[in-house]
Amino acid sequence: MNDPASLNAMLAARDLAHVWHPCTQMREHDGTLPLIPIVRGDGAWLVDAEGNRYLDGISSWWSNLFGHANPRIAAAIAGQAARLNHVMLAGFTHEPALQLAEELVRVAPPGLERVSYASDGASAVEIALKMSFHYWHNAGFPERRRFIALANAYHGETLGALSVSDLPLYRAVYGPLLFDPIVAPSPDWLDAEPGESPDDVAKRRLGDLRALLERHARETCAVIVEPLVQCSGGMRMHSPVYLAGLRRLCDEFDVHLIADEIAVGFGRTGTLFACEQACPEPGRRAGITPDFLCLSKGLTGGALPLSAVLSTDKVYRAFLGDYAANNAFLHSHTFSGNPIACAAALASLAIFRDQPVLEHIGELSARLAERIERLRDHPHVAGVRQTGLIAAFDLVVDKASGTAYAGAERRGRRFYRHALERGVLLRPLGDTVYFLPPYCINESDIDLLVDVAVDSIGATIA
Ligand SMILES: Cc1ncc(COP(=O)(O)O)c(C=O)c1O
Repeated sequence: MNDPASLNAMLAARDLAHVWHPCTQMREHDGTLPLIPIVRGDGAWLVDAEGNRYLDGISSWWSNLFGHANPRIAAAIAGQAARLNHVMLAGFTHEPALQLAEELVRVAPPGLERVSYASDGASAVEIALKMSFHYWHNAGFPERRRFIALANAYHGETLGALSVSDLPLYRAVYGPLLFDPIVAPSPDWLDAEPGESPDDVAKRRLGDLRALLERHARETCAVIVEPLVQCSGGMRMHSPVYLAGLRRLCDEFDVHLIADEIAVGFGRTGTLFACEQACPEPGRRAGITPDFLCLSKGLTGGALPLSAVLSTDKVYRAFLGDYAANNAFLHSHTFSGNPIACAAALASLAIFRDQPVLEHIGELSARLAERIERLRDHPHVAGVRQTGLIAAFDLVVDKASGTAYAGAERRGRRFYRHALERGVLLRPLGDTVYFLPPYCINESDIDLLVDVAVDSIGATIA
């Protein structure tokens, strides 16, 4: 722990007197878990009050794209803050909000023409769920009140988003407050039967989904999915075959498809949006267009909170009518479309436009793939996997049986502490270690991430 007289320790003590941190058992900051006061960011690195540096291997909860304190995004924020901080978006508009909407429509899968803004990922999911439900209500199908969500899904912590999430750690205690979705099995390729490929798993799981839709389509508003990677659920990955089949099934049974790309959007999986990778089918182009696309995290390059839900004109038109008919979407958040956040998002999208970002992500992904190769033979590592610039593995008692450590042993937490002491921020999900670095990371820092991970596995299993 920190020397109590140190600057870090003094800031931590002031913090702990009042701040209640997210996703944290606060008791653990009483002695066993350091609280690190960060004073500045420098590309892929974070710097604490005493000048110690930490390589951010997880992009600060998957949000940062082009580095902490990115100068271009910082300048856009400063310029906008000096002109207009905020104006409500009901009855008013401003250049950053309308320009961002134009840009998002331009880069998103074709057919998504309408943009609703909110502040965080979970609030975007709330909008998508409510809009889908309300669409069916306006269209004369009030019996459609249910959602299909995938096993192991995560869509955020507000009550609606948590309802369609399937992680007991976050959900169980609030169960009495939540609605129950229809749960479809996850197409996670780690669940392959002997001899099955990831595509085979996807096809089998599409069969399961079809069976659910045959029974429930007439009471269902939408299927909600995290395309290609279920991130909070342990970086579980699936074949793009699943996405193509999912779109086909939603069309066939006339239910909406909500793509939650809050974590995987903006290049993480190697394409700007994961939906673009849905396999081409006979007579169809590659990629799918969901009915709702939820975006946040990397939307502003990770600099400010902002989220957006893109939807189709067909959905939008179902909400037009006489005011008295009460069929408008009256949902609102005070800071919807905040100009400073929109300016940050425009600066981030301009970097995608001006630089070969996706090519660079491809190069970094190849380097990461090469470096994690040696983990495949490690006796305490299972399930080495990668999609784009997201890679993960699970710490296990022994590889042959795949036996997991008892949860109470908190091996992942040990790993986290050990890596931090070596100046690397890798924060496992349970015993799943993952790499999800910002795109400004250089190749030698990718090597450092993996070297420290290998070293930390040794310390974790000892
Ligand atoms: C797929 C997905 N959806 C929604 C959310 C919720 O976003 P936020 O934490 O900004 O509310 C997350 C957060 O990790 C996420 O990974």
